[in-house]
Amino acid sequence: MAVVSTSLAGAGSQLSGHFSGLRKSFLKLDNSNSNSTQSFFQNVDSHLRLSSSRKGCRAVITMAGSGKFFVGGNWKCNGTKDSISKLVSDLNSATLESDVDVVVSPPFVYLDQVKNSLTERIEIAAQNCWTGKGGAFTGEISVEQLKDLGCKWVVLGHSERRHIIGENDEFIGKKAAYALSQNLGVIACIGELLEEREAGKTFDVCFQQMKAFADAVSSWDNIVVAYEPVWAIGTGKVATPEQAQEVHLAVRDWLSKNVSAEVASKTRIIYGGSVNGGNCAELAKKEDIDGFLVGGASLKGPEFATIINSVTSKKVAA
Ligand code: PGA
Repeated sequence: MAVVSTSLAGAGSQLSGHFSGLRKSFLKLDNSNSNSTQSFFQNVDSHLRLSSSRKGCRAVITMAGSGKFFVGGNWKCNGTKDSISKLVSDLNSATLESDVDVVVSPPFVYLDQVKNSLTERIEIAAQNCWTGKGGAFTGEISVEQLKDLGCKWVVLGHSERRHIIGENDEFIGKKAAYALSQNLGVIACIGELLEEREAGKTFDVCFQQMKAFADAVSSWDNIVVAYEPVWAIGTGKVATPEQAQEVHLAVRDWLSKNVSAEVASKTRIIYGGSVNGGNCAELAKKEDIDGFLVGGASLKGPEFATIINSVTSKKVAA
């Protein structure tokens, strides 16, 4: 799979032009090159991006990550038996590109209905899970129960659970570790609040949330990272492709430095926050954007299909 290359110098100048709030922490990434943003990109390039030049294609480079495009639909606390039945039937009749992993995340109470009616082409994710084995935990849902219903994934660390329900990094990390230990894949959400972005703390916040996952889990094989800036979720204020790419690149570099180059390459880093049928293609072209986590627009079958199929905008003739 290939994408149009972003020039390194261009990325550096976009950074200084639009994202001065990020620069401070961005430069902290590489102390040995602390006075040059461009050298950071060159450093990342040397770790992750040589495959295309080895193959000799200069105008076109491969996706920075090596994982398959991944699109999740987070239905949140929406729907009724009837509306969900209509959404499932729209998804069942949609034509979806084959080279995309697709997941939907219905409310718990409709998981069984969706699993029993949705095409097997689309996997099911839960929106939360308990930290360990089930038992006397009123109101909780265990990983074992989710697996019993046929769930393959769970969304953890979503900003609505962090900031509305009050879940902290340690609690989220425990859930992730337990889910993975039972072979349930984890969609691990990270992202900064608006005031954190404005204070120049975007990378610090994202890296701290990444560290909490890294400290808790023993393998990244079954984790997809979802970067979802909180100010973009449900607001209609999508991050620009450059804003998203900048953080995705930094997160991949964090994985490379703190976990391994192999994990950095394999782990899908998907973007979430006001993704829709109109903005997905431009976002998908960015080399470190490996897919999407979609809220509102995933409640409309045809629009969700458009977002899934935006994988085609990653492909250009080599
Ligand atoms: P949104 O939600 O697409 O409605 O902004 C995204 C999410 O919360 O995952």
